[in-house]
Amino acid sequence: MSDSVKTEKPLIEAVNVFKSYKIKDKSLDVLTGAGLVIQAGEILGIVGASGVGKSTLLHILGGLDRPQSGTILFKGENIFAQKNGFLEEYRNKHIGFVFQMYNLLPDFTALENTMFPGWIGNKNEKDVREQAENLLEQMGLKDRLYHKPGELSGGEVQRVALARSLVNKPDLLLADEPTGNLDSNASDSFMDLMIQLNEKFNQTFVIVTHSQKIARRMGRVLQLVDGLVTPIDKDLIL
Ligand SMILES: Nc1ncnc2c1ncn2[C@@H]1O[C@H](COP(=O)(O)OP(=O)(O)OP(=O)(O)O)[C@@H](O)[C@H]1O
Ligand SMILES: [Mg+2]
Repeated sequence: MSDSVKTEKPLIEAVNVFKSYKIKDKSLDVLTGAGLVIQAGEILGIVGASGVGKSTLLHILGGLDRPQSGTILFKGENIFAQKNGFLEEYRNKHIGFVFQMYNLLPDFTALENTMFPGWIGNKNEKDVREQAENLLEQMGLKDRLYHKPGELSGGEVQRVALARSLVNKPDLLLADEPTGNLDSNASDSFMDLMIQLNEKFNQTFVIVTHSQKIARRMGRVLQLVDGLVTPIDKDLIL
């Protein structure tokens, strides 16, 4: 693909995504033709009631789960129609994930947890360490490199999770209620950090949130209702 074509494409596009879950003989239709466009450099918020399918959508965008039909285009290419190994590489190199329940490894230090995706991606150890230390320093965690998750505060753990998701310099960071377990001050400073990363490095974010306050700070907000994605005015979010 030529560079001139690449630059015209959105970073990611979801087209007519259908996803249902089968439990026993019942089918639960969660996404019923959902579509959205993510432009490089934006902070996109996703809101919607509990159980409506926000996490499901995020997992599909990140190549962690497959829809029954519809496509996810990454720079114009269908991520589910590539050769073997593509999805693993897509998840490791191009996407960063921050989950509500962080999923840090309890027996590893903040630094080791942050370095982890770099090890999986077979990057040079010294480069990964440098990048991880830089990120942790930016997150205000310079003096916590050797703490394990159990020896950190909730906000600090979440910042390690953010550093870890950025260590391989992903094109897109997907965050599933990253402030869900934080108090109001810690949520605000976590959002400050994401906005800084966006402004400084043009980092693209898709952030699922239940918080009206957090959603209002996004560049643009979409709402998931009845299996479909629709735009919503930030001032109308309840
Ligand atoms: N693996 C699964 N098998 C069957 N049903 C599932 C599965 N995962 C999720 N669901 C159901 O699909 C629906 C959407 O789930 P999802 O986790 O995407 O919702 P959500 O919008 O992220 O909700 P919340 O805001 O509570 O996190 C829910 O009703 C859930 O019960
Ligand atoms: Mg969810």
